[in-house]
Amino acid sequence: MSIQRPWSPDSWRTLPIRQQPTYDEPVAVQVALDQVRSLPPLVAPGEVISLRTQLARAARGEAFVLQGGDCAERFEDCRRGPIENKLKILLQMSLVLTWGARMPVIRVGRMAGQYAKPRSKPTEWIDGVEVPSYRGDHVNGHSVARRTPDPQRLVDAYFHSSATLNYVRALLDGGFADLHHPDHWDLGFVRSDQRRAEYQQIVGRILDALQFMPAAGATSEAFRSVDFYTSHEGLLLDWEHAHTVEHEGKYFNLGAHMLWIGNRTRQLEGAHVEYFRGIENPIGVKVGPGMTGAELTALLDVLEPDNRPGRITLISRFGAGKLSVALPGLIDAVRATGRTVVWSCDPMHGNTVSTESGLKTRDVDQVLAEVQEAIATHDRCNSVLGGVHFELTGDNVTECVGGPEELGVADLSRQYESFCDPRLNYAQSLEMALLLTKGLAERREGRG
Ligand code: PEP
Ligand code: CO
Repeated sequence: MSIQRPWSPDSWRTLPIRQQPTYDEPVAVQVALDQVRSLPPLVAPGEVISLRTQLARAARGEAFVLQGGDCAERFEDCRRGPIENKLKILLQMSLVLTWGARMPVIRVGRMAGQYAKPRSKPTEWIDGVEVPSYRGDHVNGHSVARRTPDPQRLVDAYFHSSATLNYVRALLDGGFADLHHPDHWDLGFVRSDQRRAEYQQIVGRILDALQFMPAAGATSEAFRSVDFYTSHEGLLLDWEHAHTVEHEGKYFNLGAHMLWIGNRTRQLEGAHVEYFRGIENPIGVKVGPGMTGAELTALLDVLEPDNRPGRITLISRFGAGKLSVALPGLIDAVRATGRTVVWSCDPMHGNTVSTESGLKTRDVDQVLAEVQEAIATHDRCNSVLGGVHFELTGDNVTECVGGPEELGVADLSRQYESFCDPRLNYAQSLEMALLLTKGLAERREGRG
């Protein structure tokens, strides 16, 4: 194991850093960050530790992680409807997966802070004008007139995160919806009669079974104590620094329960890895094409030398057809070091394609295929898929093709809202969970 340099909340500042915005007014940035630092934390250390403990169960194959939400949250969606819909689909998916896997599902939203995005280029050309790329509402606006990075958005991101989280906590605390009631499971969108009947039957069986599984949280009463955690990509390190708090001699990021390192900022000698290694939060690491076993184990040595179970979730994102080639070597490399990690699968980011008119989309069949490939590949390698990571919304958008409404490319322009990557809509998300239960049930039976 390598000898580690001392860590401090500022030790990342001397290292090379990628994907940070450049502001015209550095003083205004400091004023904004000071304000964020002075405001109360969004989460408590005890919750962070409780998620780490939950994730340790997933690492042992005793629980399953459902992480999901927008690619990029928009400030304008910080409203009652979108928040309720997102929470509802995540809870429904978690119930379906609980039933399929016959184990507790750990719910982690890409929510209440997922406002900053890495970009492939710092600028782009729109109508003959070169403008800064949209880096998420955290940094600038999507409209061409609002592309200059605006320090006030650092403060706005805090208030939108806290308003979102506050309403999520209120909904959960208030029992939210009687999700055990069939009326809340909208299957009217399924075009094929045969598939609709099949899904209705599965939902019926799930709701029956859940009556005998109060721990799964199916009743409104049980939802009062349901666990739900927040996460986002820890991209803007000045922002993450402003949420970093010392508590009983340890450092916690209290802006979210879980943070992940994106595929573009996971350099071993880079600032992001340095920041992440020092916080107590459970962290995710995106693992994509080009990652070697040696690189991954070196990264784990730096990020988690003590091998505390639950601290590290490795989120593969290779694309359907590619995962089964790339993943086995990485699974073996991690296992050879004696480490316990949660292996999760992000079937979104390796399956993005562009339509002829330039819209980004994803085919739901490819998304499902990658998760099924992940289940089978882990099985074959004597490993366990411990979770899934989706870009989704509870709204009826048209961003991904396929699914139970049989959306085609021509449907996409009807309700395409994402400023960033295409998300599964309510129908596609619910169907995804229903179809995944099959793979999880087979895995369960295979293990006997
Ligand atoms: C994301 O999760 O939104 C993302 C940018 O993914 P990745 O870092 O895996 O490309
Ligand atoms: Co994305």
